[in-house]
Amino acid sequence: MPSVYIKTYGCQMNERDSDAVAAQLVAKGYSMASDPLKADVVLLNTCSVRDAAEQKAIGKMSHVASQLRSRKKNAVLGFMGCMAQSRGKELIDKLPDVDLVIGTQKFHHTVDHIGEVLSGKTNKVVDVEEEEGSEAAVREHLLDGASGAKSITSFVSIMQGCNQFCTFCIVPYTRGRERSRSIEDIVGECKNLVDHGVREVTLLGQIVTSYGRREIGIKDGKSAFVQLIEAVHQIDGIDRIRFTSPHPKGYGEDLVQAYGRLPKLCESAHIPVQSGSNSMLKRMHRGYTRERFLDIIHKLREVRPDIGITTDIIVGFPGESEEEFEATLSLYREVEFDNAFVFKYSTRRNTPAAELEQQLPTELIEERHAKLLSEVNQIGASRYETYIGKTMQVLVEGPSRRNKERMEGRTRCNRIVVFDGSERFRGQLVDLNIIRSGSFTLYGDPVILK
Ligand code: SAH
Ligand code: SF4
Ligand code: F3S
Repeated sequence: MPSVYIKTYGCQMNERDSDAVAAQLVAKGYSMASDPLKADVVLLNTCSVRDAAEQKAIGKMSHVASQLRSRKKNAVLGFMGCMAQSRGKELIDKLPDVDLVIGTQKFHHTVDHIGEVLSGKTNKVVDVEEEEGSEAAVREHLLDGASGAKSITSFVSIMQGCNQFCTFCIVPYTRGRERSRSIEDIVGECKNLVDHGVREVTLLGQIVTSYGRREIGIKDGKSAFVQLIEAVHQIDGIDRIRFTSPHPKGYGEDLVQAYGRLPKLCESAHIPVQSGSNSMLKRMHRGYTRERFLDIIHKLREVRPDIGITTDIIVGFPGESEEEFEATLSLYREVEFDNAFVFKYSTRRNTPAAELEQQLPTELIEERHAKLLSEVNQIGASRYETYIGKTMQVLVEGPSRRNKERMEGRTRCNRIVVFDGSERFRGQLVDLNIIRSGSFTLYGDPVILK
């Protein structure tokens, strides 16, 4: 059977989608290749959130096409995911070597489309329509990684799309409107994962706090999202539950209280704030104020003092004044986030912000980016240092990405800890004494029980 190479750009949703596509391919007998130039099928799962992400995938595809086509005339080249959705056939016009363009509601048809092209039944496929029920189509997992090692943690896609329409963001156009899977369906997938050795699940969606708003609704004062967390919490064998990405407006009392009630819900949260200025938040159409955001952080820290909080921030949104940028800096210092992704604003086609005048000069965006980043690093380093001397429990995920000789795991608050250990620790909850901190990494020694 032919071999398939998949490269993934963008967010965890895309990683999850690629994993499901790989699992479907393997189930049909395809093998997975690690070198695109040796593969029979090359799929790039793309991201459109910033221009750089699109350019990377386009560059990679033209490189692969120029190298591979001369060696393997019949190789199949395809784009999947968000850029495939938002650009469609235009991608084939630009890169005529491309055979497949598969949108975000069509991942589960990838195997069939590859088959059609390989058999010569058709030579170009552009499949980017909406498809009812597609939110439940991403369910298969490739549970044994390339090394054959078992996965201890797993992503579970709970919903697709976003209705928030932040003025800078392309996601509502690439992922469509919010559509949620049923609680039973998600619980079934989680139970299956547990049977394969998974102990931690991360519930995924573009705006998970809006999960099931329309389909399930509020029951006994609990949002559908909290109902889902409770249902997953009841599954024996799951030790830890995480989710990403939430929206600040989804942190009602019910979710805050859930942190107090549900011990498996890890004390970590990635809550994108984007800006610390109220006028800017309004122009971004974020739907909350600085004060409301600070109130959420305060409440979460009240319920779980050790909670690790990270965020996303955009610098250089059109018209961002010095004062507005300073408001973001001051919010950052006030919250003392553990870490943040700082993004330079990138104009996205057809978004409301693209129409705004006063796009900022690149040098100013660069300058603000560097300034905020240095704050992120400084605050991160001092927060990480406070863990030295403490004992923290990690779920061991496998060899350290930085040093294969050592193992690494994550604390409940989502910090990576590297330690000396062997494969036998994989999948175990291990207590570590933290002895040192590096850049956004902790180092520890296993606690020896006497
Ligand atoms: N659904 C997630 C965000 C997905 S995009 C959420 O709402 O949290 C991930 C991050 O990319 C966003 O949080 C934002 O900080 C950044 N981003 C989105 N559009 C962008 C743009 N046009 N330019 C720069 N960064 C952007
Ligand atoms: Fe984009 Fe806003 Fe939706 Fe997040 S909440 S995906 S930033 S539109
Ligand atoms: Fe990118 Fe699509 Fe994710 S645009 S950030 S891959 S949802």
